Amino acid sequence: KVLVIDFGGQYNQLVARRVRECNVYCEIYSYRTSLDEIRKMNPKGIILTGGPNSVYEKGAASAPAELFHMGIPVLGLCYGAQLMMHVLGGKVEKAPEREYGKTELILDRPDSALYQGIPEKSIVWMSHNDYITSLADGFEVIAHTANCPYAAVQNVEAGLYAFQYHPEVLHSQYGTEMLRNFVLHVCGCKGTWRMEDFAEQTISELREKIGDGKVLCALSGGVDSSVAAVLLSKAVGKNLTCVFVDHGLLRKDEGDMVSAVFGPDGPYDLNFVRVDASDLFFSKLKGITEPEQKRKIIGEEFIRVFEQEAKKIGKVDYLVQGTIYPDVVESGLGGESAKIKSHHNVGGLPDYVDFKEIVEPLRYLFKDEVRKVGLHLGIPEKLVMRQPFPGPGLGIRIIGEVTPEKVKIVQEADAIYREEMDKAGMNKTVGQYFAALTNMRSVGVMGDERTYDYAIALRAVNTIDFMTADAAEIPYPVLKTVTNRIVNEVNHVNRVFYDITSKPPGTIEFE
Ligand code: XMP
Repeated sequence: KVLVIDFGGQYNQLVARRVRECNVYCEIYSYRTSLDEIRKMNPKGIILTGGPNSVYEKGAASAPAELFHMGIPVLGLCYGAQLMMHVLGGKVEKAPEREYGKTELILDRPDSALYQGIPEKSIVWMSHNDYITSLADGFEVIAHTANCPYAAVQNVEAGLYAFQYHPEVLHSQYGTEMLRNFVLHVCGCKGTWRMEDFAEQTISELREKIGDGKVLCALSGGVDSSVAAVLLSKAVGKNLTCVFVDHGLLRKDEGDMVSAVFGPDGPYDLNFVRVDASDLFFSKLKGITEPEQKRKIIGEEFIRVFEQEAKKIGKVDYLVQGTIYPDVVESGLGGESAKIKSHHNVGGLPDYVDFKEIVEPLRYLFKDEVRKVGLHLGIPEKLVMRQPFPGPGLGIRIIGEVTPEKVKIVQEADAIYREEMDKAGMNKTVGQYFAALTNMRSVGVMGDERTYDYAIALRAVNTIDFMTADAAEIPYPVLKTVTNRIVNEVNHVNRVFYDITSKPPGTIEFE
């Protein structure tokens, strides 16, 4: 495998992705990872990412010179490139002009191993304030741009390469090819790794690590926890217990769907425990209207219920978490990218600490990679392709107090919405969509009767990263059918709104 060493740059996830697209397995580690640990992993190559600092600043993220003398090929990107020069005796200074955006790269050494099959002029993506002003001993320039004399350098003998630009960004025309040249031709990787291999390899590693230890998994029925559970079930069978806490705030029929897949009638070898805790959640939520307080209560109760079930099982050696790479980054836990928001999937561990270790088999994967693994493992597409659903569930899709009656209303409305989106073929093209219950009531007329009922809000967004989002353009006829059906079929609803607010300033959920 190849190691990607993270210095906190914004494109670091992309580096890992591109390498895996070259059919080479890679994992991302913080720059704080020790040389011993790196050596133990025996990587075929190392890629140093970009980062927000300046290498010459006090306290900037650094790397020991020894990293470059271990006989492992190293490719530095942007900050990584500057760091390599700085540590090995070259010079990095503030550039007279910040270089940002698409830039023409001119090869000085088209014969370099990294430039095989690359035209002498192509576009690359630049984003830097500093630049290399003199090279470390043994290095030669292999490409430049108008403002950057050392846009790419190499020391072939030492196996060291550095790009000032970002080959991982798709605006770099031949970026993936350059990375492929590094991992295949310099590092000597075979380029035969596939996502399917990840599943098989992970299962056998888990089996070896866990032996006949007892494993506990909190299964939510979401994509990540489902895939993690199936990997574990294939590795250790009945030594795995999956606890599925039904807080009563799931979408219509969702609990039954999860039970059908993971329960005793499903195809997997594991102990499945479904806990119906809806009464408890409803009683704790009674009278509570403040969104963050609702979240907190639901989160805490969830953990309490899970703990109680866990105690019944007795001794647990390992706890499974379906953490995926973006969770790790968002929480500021694993990689080095700036903390974006505290994530819901990480950090909320049960505080009974009666287990040896947490296992996170999906820690290095992106969502679409997790889905590929899930499909390969034969998990039903319905589950694998599911859109995100928040942990607090319908609790944060009901504005104001949560009651069983309101949950029923929003479940029915949401089911109709989803059914019609399926029929219209929109279910695969829209990122996330759902119905929410506003706490607005208004006057309407039904038959000859005056009504005073709730308004449902429909939301549908397209988003790449869930940090920003645009309202999806749902065809008017679809909205009309959904609206007609909801007001006709769902009791206590007499109005439907469609929310076209983008994020920001709105959020995706209503609370
Ligand atoms: P917002 O509403 O913040 O949502 O724009 C962004 C994404 O995060 C999901 N979300 C949550 N997920 N617990 C979760 O597990 C939460 O409390 C939570 N709040 C929002 C939301 O569904 C969307 O995909």
